[in-house]
Amino acid sequence: MKGLILAGGSGTRLRPITHTSAKQLVPVANKPILYFVLENLVDAEIIEIAIVVGDTADEIKAAVGDGSRWGAQVTYIAQDAPRGLAHCVFIAAEFLGDDDFVMYLGDNLLQQDLREFLGGREGAAAQILLCRVPDPQRFGVAELSQDRTTVVRLVEKPVVPPSDLALTGVYLFDKTIHEAVRAIAPSARGELEITDAIQWLIDQGHTVHWRQLEGWWIDTGKLTPLLEANRLVLETLEPRIDGKVDEASRIEGRVVIERGAEVVNSTVRGPVVIGAGARVVDSYVGPFTAVGPDCEITHSEIDHSVVLEGGRITDAGDRIVDSLIGKHAEIFRSGQRPRATRLLLGDHSQVDLA
Ligand code: DAU
Repeated sequence: MKGLILAGGSGTRLRPITHTSAKQLVPVANKPILYFVLENLVDAEIIEIAIVVGDTADEIKAAVGDGSRWGAQVTYIAQDAPRGLAHCVFIAAEFLGDDDFVMYLGDNLLQQDLREFLGGREGAAAQILLCRVPDPQRFGVAELSQDRTTVVRLVEKPVVPPSDLALTGVYLFDKTIHEAVRAIAPSARGELEITDAIQWLIDQGHTVHWRQLEGWWIDTGKLTPLLEANRLVLETLEPRIDGKVDEASRIEGRVVIERGAEVVNSTVRGPVVIGAGARVVDSYVGPFTAVGPDCEITHSEIDHSVVLEGGRITDAGDRIVDSLIGKHAEIFRSGQRPRATRLLLGDHSQVDLA
C-alpha cells in the first residue's frame, strides 16, 4: 500500500496567512497539518509516500525532507498548476504503479485511525470516508444506495446537495482509478475532479464502498475550522514543561511549554502550548491558545488564538481572542499622541474593533 499526499494548490481561502506559504504547513497546536497527515499514514504502516507539490514546493520539501524523521520514504511529484485532485493521481501514475494507495489531502486533519478505514474493502475499486456536515454545499457529497451499502452518486460542491454526507480528504483506491482519471474531462471550474473519477468507476459497474468517519474531521482551509482544530488537538496534549517558569507564574491545566521557552510573572491556563524560545512576560495566556516558537507576549492577555512563529504582542490592552496572528506580526502600544489605532496591514488582513 502506498500513500499519495496532495499538497499543491494555492491557499487563497486562508489569506493572508497563506498568501506566500503553504496552507498544509499552517500549524495546529504548533505542529504543521502535513505532519499529522504523515504520522497518520506511517501509523497505518504506509511508508512509501509521494507528495504532490505546486508553487510552495520548496517550503514543503524543507519541512518534510526525505521523510526519514517519520520512518517514511518520501518522494515529490511536481504539479505545474492546480489542475484538480484527479490530475494529481494522473501525474502520480508512475510512482503508484499497480499498487493500492491511500490519497490524503494535505490540508485535512482527521482524528480517525487510518487502519480502521483501510480494513474491509473486499471487491471495491474505491473506498471513501464520509462525514455528516451541516453545510454540504462546500464539499463533495455522496448519495448512497437504498440499502446504504454502496455509493451511487457523487457531486462536487452541489447547489442542492443530495445528502449531508461530505467526502473527507481520505480515499482508498486500487489501480482501476488510473483508467478513470484518464477517461474524465475537466469540470466547469476547469479541474479534473476526483468525484468525477469515482463516479466513472460507479458508472462502469465498479463497487465504491464508504465508511462513516468516527471522531472529528477538519478541513483547515479557513480561520474558524483552524481555531477549532487547534482546540481539539490542544485538548489531547500530554502536559509537559521543558521550558522555564518563574515562581511568580501560575501554570494551570493541560499546558506544554517547550524547551527554551520562558514564562515570567504570568498565568497560563491550559490547554495551551508555548513553542520553543517563546517568552511570556507579565501576561495571561488562556485556554485553547497556541503560541508559536520565538513569540513574545508581554503585558497582554490572549485566549482561544493562534500566534504563529515570531509573533509579538506587547501592552495589547483589551484581551485578544479568536485571533490568528501571522508570522512575525506585531501588536504593540507606542504611546504616541494623538491616541489612535495605527495599522500596517497586509493584503486581505482583518481587524475587528468590536
Ligand atoms: O476537504 C474535503 C474536500 O476536498 C472534498 O469534500 C471535496 O470533494 C474535494 O474536491 C476537496 O475540495 P477542496 O475544494 O477543499 O479542495 P482543495 O482545492 O482545497 O484541495 C485539497 C488539497 O489538495 C489541498 O491540500 C491542495 C491539494 N491540491 C488541490 C488541487 C486542486 C493539489 O495538490 N493539487 C490540485 O490540483
